[in-house]
Amino acid sequence: MASIEIQRLVKEFHDRKGATTRVIDGVDLTISGDTFVSVVGPSGSGKTTLLNIVSGIETQTSGTVSLRSGEREAKVGYVFQDPRLLPWRTVIENLGFVQHERKGWEERARHYLDLVGLSHCADRYPSQLSGGQQQRIGIARAFAVEPDVLLMDEPFSHLDAMTSRTLREHLERIWLESRRTVMFVTHDVTEAVQLSDRIVVLAPGGRVHEVIDVDLPRPRRASDPAVAVLQAEVLARFETLEAAA
Ligand SMILES: Nc1ncnc2c1ncn2[C@@H]1O[C@H](COP(=O)(O)OP(=O)(O)OP(=O)(O)O)[C@@H](O)[C@H]1O
Ligand SMILES: [Mg+2]
Repeated sequence: MASIEIQRLVKEFHDRKGATTRVIDGVDLTISGDTFVSVVGPSGSGKTTLLNIVSGIETQTSGTVSLRSGEREAKVGYVFQDPRLLPWRTVIENLGFVQHERKGWEERARHYLDLVGLSHCADRYPSQLSGGQQQRIGIARAFAVEPDVLLMDEPFSHLDAMTSRTLREHLERIWLESRRTVMFVTHDVTEAVQLSDRIVVLAPGGRVHEVIDVDLPRPRRASDPAVAVLQAEVLARFETLEAAA
């Protein structure tokens, strides 16, 4: 079983005049098992910084992060805001390129391509795909590595509302088929309610403001009454927090 364990995490940035700003302020968070956890918070509350520390792109000032799968270190996959496909490789080659485990790579790649509904695009180049299709390839590529832990930073924020809604459905479907421990950063509360088992709300200054368990049946649709009710409720609480920011 995989887990992400964050303890007493602090991150401070220093400017050139020596002034210190604390942007993550004592975050404790444990995500274990095949749980989908979203981190939401107003702009500047430290979501990306937190994810960058968890992924190792940035180092913390103090505190610990551990990514485990049983007795070993967890294998980590990423989905970024922009899909970052290699333009000179075809879709299937892009999915193959990231797989260190060579045995069976093409079968895995085709399986996840199928799950995002893009089998027919395997031999196209990224420039021959729409933005939404490219992001679906980005999601398939992350799953094709078969990571223990999946980290995502606002993967749908560059897309229009309708495309991002379709992609959320794709992401939920692929996650239900192939469950992972997920940490998903978004500023979109409705997205978080639709996708998550748990929502961690970060307050300005990088503190955990509240943790909301989402116990709704899956697959979920934005139009499901129970989803809509919870979305409205969380959004109202979130707006209060944003107003205070
Ligand atoms: N390299 C850096 N140097 C100094 N300050 C930084 C640096 N990176 C981020 N910050 C500051 O840290 C705070 C948190 O930034 P972060 O990008 O993590 O926020 P966020 O919650 O992801 O915001 P958004 O929703 O806008 O993406 C902000 O106040 C930002 O200005
Ligand atoms: Mg961010």
